[in-house]
Amino acid sequence: MSLITETHSRRADTDAPLIPILIERWSPRGYDATAVIDETTLTTVLEAARWAPSASNMQPSRFIVARRGSANFTTIHENLMGFNQAWADSASVLIANVAELALDKTANELKENPWARYDVGQAVAHLTIQAQHEGLHTHQIGGFDGDALGTAFGLSDNQVIVTITALGVLGDASTLSPEMLEREIAPRTRLPLTELLLVNE
Ligand SMILES: Cc1cc2nc3c(=O)[nH]c(=O)nc-3n(C[C@H](O)[C@H](O)[C@H](O)COP(=O)(O)O)c2cc1C
Repeated sequence: MSLITETHSRRADTDAPLIPILIERWSPRGYDATAVIDETTLTTVLEAARWAPSASNMQPSRFIVARRGSANFTTIHENLMGFNQAWADSASVLIANVAELALDKTANELKENPWARYDVGQAVAHLTIQAQHEGLHTHQIGGFDGDALGTAFGLSDNQVIVTITALGVLGDASTLSPEMLEREIAPRTRLPLTELLLVNE
């Protein structure tokens, strides 16, 4: 059993009742480096992203899905920045979340979609919740070399990698470096709701 589940609850300490899946979701860095996600479950997790809402149902989200052990996984992992490389290689799957910035309305006209990045975020949010429901965990990553990755995967100028999602099975946090372990078990905090509500009459 992992250090986290033995000694630390990572459940959100909410000020209002939430559905359990939202309370239980958190972003670990300690994954089981031997775990393999079965293909049916992986499809289910991706299907959740597919069914997220999007502006005018334009569906700008695309995904590069790389299973651990594959060359594509290595490519994504090598282009992570800073300390992300030190932990993300234990995830079972790395997913590059791509936004198509413009919609191909006709064969030769691109119309800008100002909500493309927003919609990718929403699709990933759905994916994270479905993953949690499947007993998996996710950790979103903004620290990566997007230009290098875009080139490596042959993306067009219209396709931008917004984030990477690490998907995997919770592992033993005691294998993390002391610095990462400290982050792994630090209390999860949020700004008070009153600070978020610019207007609430
Ligand atoms: C867009 C985005 C980018 C992020 N980038 C990184 C990152 O590069 N490295 C990392 O370790 N965590 C990253 N995170 C994870 C956040 O730090 C984490 O979600 C936040 O601290 C809240 O923790 P929780 O998800 O456990 O509630 C990112 C999260 C998001 C949504």
